[in-house]
Amino acid sequence: MALSGTIQDALNEHINQEFQSSYLYLSMSAYYESINLPGFAHWMRVQSQEEYGHSMNLFDFVNDRQGRVMLQPISQPTLEFQSPLEVMQQSLGHERQISQLIHRLYEVAVQEEDYPTQVHLQWFITEQVEEEKVASNIVEQLKMIGSKGDALLLLDRELGARSAVPADRRAL
Ligand code: FEO
Repeated sequence: MALSGTIQDALNEHINQEFQSSYLYLSMSAYYESINLPGFAHWMRVQSQEEYGHSMNLFDFVNDRQGRVMLQPISQPTLEFQSPLEVMQQSLGHERQISQLIHRLYEVAVQEEDYPTQVHLQWFITEQVEEEKVASNIVEQLKMIGSKGDALLLLDRELGARSAVPADRRAL
């Protein structure tokens, strides 16, 4: 079953959203570097790579369905933040928005009776539950830490241990 024009447009739009997420998290990584929190910077850099992987997963899916990938412009991400906590709060808000977009995309696939896209998107729906949970946990930890520098450095060390994503993997 070939992709309908409606689904193809919606998937292309979401490929762009995931690239946008990747760029935002890279900007957050740069901010953490600038305030000397290398563990947080590393964690955000890995997060950026994950988002790139999500884009590429949909890129491959559109091609596998004999559709046409049409890349769109990526806008400048937020550059400055007020605190380590504000970054994670923005990240959590962003993930919640992405979840909504994926749910809407799924609804389009249902309306179009496109079953392969519905099945494919189920992975993304589950992934969003995990992404929101992880971001929310870090937000709560940062709130508990408050202005305690030693606790912040411990969390920085913990986040710095996150495994990197293999380059350009096809499977997620
Ligand atoms: Fe690809 Fe964090 O959503």
